[in-house]
Amino acid sequence: MQAIEPLTILAIESSCDETAAAVMHNGMLKSNVIVSQLIHQGYGGVVPELASREHQIHITPVVSAALEEAQVKKEALHAIGFTQGPGLLGPLLIGNCFAKSLAFALNIPLIGVHHIQAHVLANFIDEPKPTFPFLCLTVSGGHTQMVWVKDYFDMEVLGQTQDDAVGEAFDKIAKLMGLSYPGGCLIDHYAQTGNAHAFSFPPTHIPALDFSFSGIKAAFSRFVQSKPSSFVAENLPDICASIQATLVDMLCSKLIKAAKTTNMHRIALAGGVAANSYLRKQLAVLANQYGWELFIPAMAYCTDNAAMVAMAAYYKYHKGDFADLSIRSFPRMGFYP
Ligand code: KG4
Ligand code: ZN
Repeated sequence: MQAIEPLTILAIESSCDETAAAVMHNGMLKSNVIVSQLIHQGYGGVVPELASREHQIHITPVVSAALEEAQVKKEALHAIGFTQGPGLLGPLLIGNCFAKSLAFALNIPLIGVHHIQAHVLANFIDEPKPTFPFLCLTVSGGHTQMVWVKDYFDMEVLGQTQDDAVGEAFDKIAKLMGLSYPGGCLIDHYAQTGNAHAFSFPPTHIPALDFSFSGIKAAFSRFVQSKPSSFVAENLPDICASIQATLVDMLCSKLIKAAKTTNMHRIALAGGVAANSYLRKQLAVLANQYGWELFIPAMAYCTDNAAMVAMAAYYKYHKGDFADLSIRSFPRMGFYP
């Protein structure tokens, strides 16, 4: 790819409960600002209407902070990228309207970015970057997919969850233990001092390269209900380590199968659950065992962020893939461009 320079892009992410903005100059990240909405903690999940209002409050200061940190004036921008979908419709519309208005006012191109593609392309923010093709296990709060990545925007889903996403399973299991939202990182935290063999939970195995997490969630619910009320608090680290190991093993066994099926040794990880320390550790072990070339984004680029949106917008700019002002947000996974 012949790099177009100079090229300064502002990117905006607002698909769920993070309001984020990033500035990228000639493919190098200059700033990455995120405001995580704490308002949802008391509700056990994201409340869409509250999320929309929070995005409205934070988007202008977050964009200003990203420009300031990058020491870039808005008049120096060449394009605006934003998350088009999938995600929550209200939050997506805030980012869409903001990006459109700014691109219109500055008379510069607008670029719509697919959120899951952006997660995959987070693997290109730092060196070393993977070469094509590669296999990417994409694991977030809304998605769990085995993606065959042929090019920046040529991605094929080889398998995906048939029910809950693995991040959703982490969060619902955390909720069953009385932990606050989002619980995935709390399970990771408490598991650090726990014994992963203390309790056993039945992993769900379904055919091909698909996943299913609703069964393990139900099994965990029955486990908690069968115990006295103080049991979870008294055994929290061991329970967290055991359920985390079960969920991670379910992901790893599918990844081994996918690598064998496709005869691929370049393996990448993406999405919020890629921040899980046990998953990162297990993948390093597997890479060693199977001779994989492993790519895992830095922690800051795993959970929702605008750096990954900027990366995707950068490559779209080079394709000349620009949106016009009629571009609509899409809340559901639906298409995969
Ligand atoms: O990618 P992301 O920020 O948002 C979506 O696109 O869904 O992913 C959020 C998910 C949540 O379910 C959260 O609990 C999970 O990622 N997560 C983790 C960890 N950090 C975030 N799950 C397990 N261990 C973690 N350390
Ligand atoms: Zn995400």
